[in-house]
Amino acid sequence: MRVLGIHGSPRVGGNSDTLLSAALAGAEEAGAEIKRINVSGLRISGCTECNDCYALGECSITDDDMGQIYDALEWADRIIFASPIFFMGLPSQAKALIDRCQRYWALKHVLGEEFPRPEGAPARFGIFIGVGATRGKKLFDGVILTMKYFFDAISMKPVEDLYVLIRGIDEKGEISTNAEALRSARESGGKLAAMD
Ligand SMILES: Cc1cc2nc3c(=O)[nH]c(=O)nc-3n(C[C@H](O)[C@H](O)[C@H](O)COP(=O)(O)O)c2cc1C
Repeated sequence: MRVLGIHGSPRVGGNSDTLLSAALAGAEEAGAEIKRINVSGLRISGCTECNDCYALGECSITDDDMGQIYDALEWADRIIFASPIFFMGLPSQAKALIDRCQRYWALKHVLGEEFPRPEGAPARFGIFIGVGATRGKKLFDGVILTMKYFFDAISMKPVEDLYVLIRGIDEKGEISTNAEALRSARESGGKLAAMD
């Protein structure tokens, strides 16, 4: 099983970074091959809505780091997307990555083609790990919807039962004192990797 972790925070070594590491460790324990993408070190331009992808399912922006991300998205059987909440949504770097998946949306919904997958590859599933400073009931509502449509565009089924949503964590490193959150992330990663 190939499990890709996507870290959506610009803060290296922060809370979502640690949660993602725990989830990937759980996936590895379950026997998965893992890979990780950190948006913080990458140049990801925003979608320009040129709609060129409607013709071929390819993105016309080629002078940034999305190429390696597309390769990873196509390599993966499973995705663990970990991110903090910024202004009730995703950090701009993480959202840019998602917007640039419009080429896969176009492939599926405009061109009527399948997401590129090797013959006999496992079913695709994705989960989200979120962390925010506040405790509001609706804190993750917007991002859960964004993830639903992101996973749909890349032909992955979201497994919301395995989402890990942690409220009330703000300072860098604060998550390390929350053993329950780390255990939960590790368990979710393991379960995701073990799904049929
Ligand atoms: C620009 C910005 C916007 C934020 N917006 C929210 C927000 O809307 N709701 C919230 O609960 N926390 C918000 N936060 C706090 C982060 O979600 C919180 O610090 C989180 O633990 C950071 O995770 P990280 O260390 O993985 O980056 C915001 C932080 C920043 C820097």
